Amino acid sequence: MEAWDERAVRERLRCAGQEHLLRFCADLAPGPRAALLAELGPLEPDVLREHCRRAAAAHGRPSGPGPDLAARLQPLPPDRLGSATRCHPDTRRRWEEEGLHQIALGKVAVLLLAGGQGTRLGVPYPKGMYQVGLPSQKSLYSCRPRGSGGAAVAGERFGTRCIVPWYIMTSEFTLEPTAKFFQEHDFFHLDPANVVMFEQRMLPAVTFDGRAILERKDKVAMAPDGNGGLYCALADHQILEDMEQRGVEFVHVYCVDNILVRLPDPLFIGFCVCQGSDCGTKVVEKAYPEEPVGVVCQVDGVPQVVEYNEMDPETVQLRAPSGALLFSAGNICNHFFTRAFLRRVTSEYEPLLQPHVAVKKVPYVDEEGNSVTPKAPNGIKMEKFVFDVFPFAKNFVAFEVPREEEFSPLKNGDLAARDSPTTARQALLWQHYRWAVQAGARFLNINGVLLPDQPPSLPDQGEPPAVCEISPLVSCFGEGLEEYLRGREFQTPLLLDEKEARALHP
Ligand code: UD1
Repeated sequence: MEAWDERAVRERLRCAGQEHLLRFCADLAPGPRAALLAELGPLEPDVLREHCRRAAAAHGRPSGPGPDLAARLQPLPPDRLGSATRCHPDTRRRWEEEGLHQIALGKVAVLLLAGGQGTRLGVPYPKGMYQVGLPSQKSLYSCRPRGSGGAAVAGERFGTRCIVPWYIMTSEFTLEPTAKFFQEHDFFHLDPANVVMFEQRMLPAVTFDGRAILERKDKVAMAPDGNGGLYCALADHQILEDMEQRGVEFVHVYCVDNILVRLPDPLFIGFCVCQGSDCGTKVVEKAYPEEPVGVVCQVDGVPQVVEYNEMDPETVQLRAPSGALLFSAGNICNHFFTRAFLRRVTSEYEPLLQPHVAVKKVPYVDEEGNSVTPKAPNGIKMEKFVFDVFPFAKNFVAFEVPREEEFSPLKNGDLAARDSPTTARQALLWQHYRWAVQAGARFLNINGVLLPDQPPSLPDQGEPPAVCEISPLVSCFGEGLEEYLRGREFQTPLLLDEKEARALHP
């Protein structure tokens, strides 16, 4: 922790109009006082003043793409939209081959956005450490340590050892526990040299009249600057230079909470590369009009994501003549960028990104120094969003993928009916059950009765007929399972990890 001189910090805060943040400084013991000064010292006065001014000015104005949105919105035109399922099998093979080739050449990295606070899930540790109750007891971080996923398939296909660097953006809240978790789990058997963690910036929460909020006498109410903080963080930590040194050209970015994420996905990467795209995103068809996912669409003819809380309730319900939702392309926070595009963003476009405003209840200390938990919203948090760079792309494309294979996010606690630990666990177990049955496995139910050998074509809600979990070290995308499973009968639950696989096919 850097030692900051109180007078110097006071002067910087005075320039920013935020001197009140030191009003309890004299009451503090040396340790907490040094911690407060260390928190405040690095804040650039101009940046802090502008942040507080913008937050106060934004209060009461709708956040997002601006006024009269409904009239300016259009669905994405078909020539920008590819599909993993509605394409010719030869085309699909060509895309996949291209993606595998790029992975084998070492040109692909994956980048995890893991700086969020996961407030809706309500656990005091990073969401990636959460276990949804799988037989393997894996966490979200370890379910998909997919530096190895597509790399293993590409390695097999091209007979080389492929390295896919894994970049992980954390925040003040998540860096320490995440780093510790990775060490405790031996980096999930990856070479630590290929796992790069870096931290995003934090911003103070601000009152409606533009004053940064003190959460305690010795602590400012700070929050990460949104997943669009990625672009400043890439520049702060010279991550693009690191990528260049490693020969990375394409970056597959994803969020921490989707248990079904395919990573790195050769098909998606190959699709984007074949289209000559600099920026792409995966979408799934929205499950219901109010589903809390952003919508990939066009605003004034420019590709963009409109976040779920920024689209009005009538527009959300609009239907096309076919009866399908008009704005149905749901954002699953799974994006493709070329390194060259990220370079343009960090050097040119980042300052143009408009922050989104969230009005929240922010705990604070009153003038007497008492802690207060507000009953009504009292503060503004400003965040940038990772997808707000889409309008700057020269050739933006979206790629539609099947929800049951690729999207089951963990957002809420188990009391919720949707997007909970239970629905995430069930989605993964359904997927693995389908893969196993397609590979020729047959299962006995808990009473020893043989289950039908045809998997249901679409997953039902609830538990799958048999519990089967397949380690990503055995199969990443359901490939190559026949040699272990064809013609065999299994008791539920089956955990097909490397040891079990060796026993089945020595
Ligand atoms: C996000 C998308 C939404 C999409 C949904 C799909 C954004 C802004 N919104 O919504 O359009 O439909 O996922 O599940 O992308 N994060 C950081 N730093 C931050 C804040 C968040 O790294 O400061 C990370 C989180 O750890 C997470 C990801 O960004 O991995 C998404 O953040 P979250 O807050 O969960 O976004 P949602 O509201 O669920």
